[in-house]
Amino acid sequence: MALAYNLDEIAARELKPALLELEGISRNTIEAHYKLYQGYIAKRNEILGKLADVDLSTANQVYSELRALKVDLTFAVGGIKNHELYFDHLGGIGGDPTGAFAGLLVRDFGSSDAWRADLKATGLAARGWAWTAYDWDERGLFNYIGDAQNTFPVWNATPLVALDVYEHAYFIDFGTDRAGYIEAFFNNLDFGVVNGLVDAYGIPT
Ligand SMILES: [Fe+2]
Repeated sequence: MALAYNLDEIAARELKPALLELEGISRNTIEAHYKLYQGYIAKRNEILGKLADVDLSTANQVYSELRALKVDLTFAVGGIKNHELYFDHLGGIGGDPTGAFAGLLVRDFGSSDAWRADLKATGLAARGWAWTAYDWDERGLFNYIGDAQNTFPVWNATPLVALDVYEHAYFIDFGTDRAGYIEAFFNNLDFGVVNGLVDAYGIPT
């Protein structure tokens, strides 16, 4: 189906089998979480389909079809990008960061432990996401807060770690113990994937 702006429909990435065998984060949680991700994909396609036929002459900041579609498109696309990174870099063995990423953490946070403590606290302070991203203007890593799929990312920064702290990410396994979930997140991180991103994006080390 032809979508707006010459874009094509996209499909959900397959769920890596390793995600069903995480330590502390259950198969139930991952399967439910993956369904939410599939929902973001479906809504992205649906919204872009509708944007192909939207009447630009009715654009209005209080309410208009264009406004509604474009605002919620950012939620859907944010949900896709956030979850693709989240699922991509889980399934590892955690432990101490390795490689180029470890070097960046020492340079920008002082130590891996300081990065970890800051990201954990950032995740406890967020209502949706905490990301470790490289800001190309500041030339450094920073742990950012997001309160929704589409709030607070900054321009010209590349996320390398995405910590989902929406309750759907942990409530089945941890109840209100978000800190326990964040520890489990660290224990399942695949730093090889993170280092692959540092390399693929050409982040200066
Ligand atoms: Fe999520």
